[in-house]
Amino acid sequence: MASSATYALLLLLLVSSAAAESPTPAAWPLQFHSILYVNYSGSLSLIDLWYDWPNGRNFNIIQDQLGSVLYDLEWNNGTSFFYSLDSAKTCSSAQLDVGILRPDWLDGAEYLGQESVDGFLCNVWQKLRFIWYYEDVVTKRPVHWEFYTGRSIHVMTFDVGAVLEDEKWQAPVYCFEKKESQIDRRSEYKVDVGYMEPQLKGILGGSMQL
Ligand SMILES: *[C@@H]1O[C@H](CO)[C@@H](O)[C@H](O)[C@H]1NC(C)=O
Ligand SMILES: *[C@@H]1O[C@H](CO)[C@@H](O)[C@H](O)[C@H]1NC(C)=O
Repeated sequence: MASSATYALLLLLLVSSAAAESPTPAAWPLQFHSILYVNYSGSLSLIDLWYDWPNGRNFNIIQDQLGSVLYDLEWNNGTSFFYSLDSAKTCSSAQLDVGILRPDWLDGAEYLGQESVDGFLCNVWQKLRFIWYYEDVVTKRPVHWEFYTGRSIHVMTFDVGAVLEDEKWQAPVYCFEKKESQIDRRSEYKVDVGYMEPQLKGILGGSMQL
């Protein structure tokens, strides 16, 4: 009796320590708002990220330091709009073969251990050597992530359940006017402008073979 109880306890300890050795990242909440502080080789920006999985949409509103505001609006049908709301009235769109990031997009990431980042003790994973992801050990909230390009993201707020009003998701009318100037420039922006998701979802969505 005693030995089988001991054995069961030992087994329990083994199983739980195996689980503790290799935690998995929390799925993204279905809807949240986050303010992201971005440093890309010294170019700073703030991103208002509105992730809205049930409505199939994702928004990055990008404020470059002392610069312009860029709107990167993505729909789950693969259509994205990238525009300004200033007098320049620029808009480009793209049709990608993947939608927005799935809540479980971090599944299959490789666990790298724990590290302190921005003053938070984090579990760290990497996925496809494309992204390094840091999640608070206690709250399971993302704290930081970093792309292979060196773009570094610090999560300043993380409001689970926050949803941006529908009217804010309407791309401006000049996004729907056919104009000579409206050639798709997204591929040129991929590395140099502050947005990140199309590149990210392109790779994680499997449209690029790694
Ligand atoms: C931004 O990142 C660079 C490294 O790429 C670092 O030298 C610099 O101190 C950072 N600046 C800020 C304001 O975080
Ligand atoms: C995808 O959805 C958006 C928003 O409803 C729409 O503007 C766009 O035209 C759609 N794209 C396609 C290919 O249906």
